[in-house]
Amino acid sequence: MVLQLFLDTANIDEIREALSWGVISGVTTNPSLVAKEKRDFKVLVKEICDMVPGPVSAEVISLKSDEMISEARALSRIAPNVVVKIPMCVEGLKAVKVLSQEGINTNVTLVFSANQGLLAALAGATYVSPFVGRLDDVGNEGMDVVEDLVILIENYGLPAKVIAASIRHPMHVIEAARVCAHVATVPFKVLENMTRHPLTDIGIVRFLDDWAKVQDTFDK
Ligand code: G3P
Repeated sequence: MVLQLFLDTANIDEIREALSWGVISGVTTNPSLVAKEKRDFKVLVKEICDMVPGPVSAEVISLKSDEMISEARALSRIAPNVVVKIPMCVEGLKAVKVLSQEGINTNVTLVFSANQGLLAALAGATYVSPFVGRLDDVGNEGMDVVEDLVILIENYGLPAKVIAASIRHPMHVIEAARVCAHVATVPFKVLENMTRHPLTDIGIVRFLDDWAKVQDTFDK
């Protein structure tokens, strides 16, 4: 199994930059991230889908299952790599059941317990997204939900994949990998921080200094 990294953003520049690093294989968005971009939702989703050679999650905003299903069908027509994000609730489960029968990929979001995630997986979700950072914020151990959910899904051979979401810092990514999350979706800032280490910066400077000293000798 390979840990996949998705980028958690709706910003085209961030997606373009992260894709050029060769490390991300999908994108997740949510209504808050899309709202920040101040662009037409469907046009933006289409642009992201054309750039990303992997799943792109776009969220419905309806709260009734029949409306979620209509929204999901429309989103899925934008591009073949659209994954429809559905909020975890009874209406959401109903929608996931229908959509999975239609072959539309879903990502059940706002999951805060292993039971919620289990229900989403049983209903036919393609992805289930426990929110690690928001659980940590209220004094719970967010990664425990990811770990429990991975165990449940693996024990019973359910086809859903677990996305560790609401990732706030690089250690969350390591912890997600330790508990065998299938995917971690990370904001661009976290991805940037994952590239850095002060000893790398010091090492680069020292190598170049040493190199320049010798070159100076030969140049004289
Ligand atoms: O897509 C869900 C995730 O991005 C939420 O993150 O930081 O708003 O809790 P956050």
